Amino acid sequence: MHQYHQKFGKIFKMNLGTFKSVQIGDPTLLESIFRKESNYPRRLEIKPWKMYRDYRNEAYGLLTQEGQAWQTMRKAVQRNLMDPKEVAKLDLKMNEVMQDFVTRINNICHEKGCVDDLYFELNKWSYETICFILYNRRCGLLQEACGEDDLKFIKSVKEMMKYLGPLMVTSVNLHRKLNTPQWQKHTQAWDDIFTTAKRFIHERLENISKSQKGDILSKISEQGQLSKKELSAIFSELQIGGIETTANALMWAIFNLSQNYNAQEKLYEEIQNTLLPGDLPTSQSLKQMPYLRSCLKESMRLTPTVPFTSRTMEEDTNVGGFLLPQGTIVMINFHAITWNEDFYTDAKKFKPERWLQDKHTLNPFASTPFGIGRRMCVGRRLAELQLQLALCWQLLKSTLL
Ligand code: HEM
Repeated sequence: MHQYHQKFGKIFKMNLGTFKSVQIGDPTLLESIFRKESNYPRRLEIKPWKMYRDYRNEAYGLLTQEGQAWQTMRKAVQRNLMDPKEVAKLDLKMNEVMQDFVTRINNICHEKGCVDDLYFELNKWSYETICFILYNRRCGLLQEACGEDDLKFIKSVKEMMKYLGPLMVTSVNLHRKLNTPQWQKHTQAWDDIFTTAKRFIHERLENISKSQKGDILSKISEQGQLSKKELSAIFSELQIGGIETTANALMWAIFNLSQNYNAQEKLYEEIQNTLLPGDLPTSQSLKQMPYLRSCLKESMRLTPTVPFTSRTMEEDTNVGGFLLPQGTIVMINFHAITWNEDFYTDAKKFKPERWLQDKHTLNPFASTPFGIGRRMCVGRRLAELQLQLALCWQLLKSTLL
């Protein structure tokens, strides 16, 4: 998409199969869309997901729901997931999982310092963390003998995502009518995802009165605003949302640091100057690590985890001098925006310092890895804390063990 934008400019039309869209790759256009946002912003409909829910008589979650019903869900979840004070308290749980992760990596590391499938190990780390936070549940995925069900969940998410793309750009109605292999595999993957998520929810709700609370499910279910069916839909999506994204973002952060020795050294120095020997990083101590936060911001700018988001125009809207009719799908391409030399000098270089030095001159719409406005990622604060702690552990792991 970055290359297309270089060829066709900051805004252009694109038809891909039955899918018609307008592509934007410029922060000023993103800002103009944000300024016109309504109370219920809409993204591109994920029709295959909706069709699965209708087919199995399941509810929609935050990623799939629209309008007022979305807003009610969002408020219930946001209160617990986006409140900085509430999220800060999750550092203990995140550190507990991180300790297991570091031990596991040390155990499975070959002599030359290689891990066979680091990305899958990171998937296990992110899954273990999100389940602990959502349900107070330790799944044991970082132990030698781990549960098949949990591994299956991660694999089912990958399988479901594999078929999502092709189903999005062709007629999903037709796939369903003809019961194509793509539709069958997508359905099977969702069946597996829902089975596991429902079991976790059920087991947690059954035990709520007996064990310690503090998990997101207990807090939300106590508010009593959402039905069990809605909880299943929302929590399946939160469980999915917390796996690939954080794992991918950490993988890129490790990669970017590995290519930039000076940044690594500077970061190590900052961590050493902030933490006393033997201390674990906490939400509080991270506040004293501006360079660490800049490394993460820079990594998410240079190598965004989610390549795009979208908005469906709710009314005829002027964007960059073009009138986009109501219903137009606008795709917001993060790479094209964040690699734009007009907004970042040396845009393709990893330079964490830019977030410290040029802070006031940087356009806030020129790097939005978690999206924008009311529909911004609801797991943002959680992910940021998790990634900041993880980076800290990565640099310290040899001294902590
Ligand atoms: C939405 C990115 C982690 C759950 C989004 C969006 C982006 C995004 C770009 C679309 C926002 C928009 O349209 O403006 C990321 C990145 C992550 C991350 C880069 C980590 C590095 C998480 C986590 C969770 C999560 C940990 C679950 C706890 C969601 C949900 C939505 C969403 C439910 C839909 C929100 C709504 O429509 O109301 N995310 N995300 N994400 N994300 Fe994340």
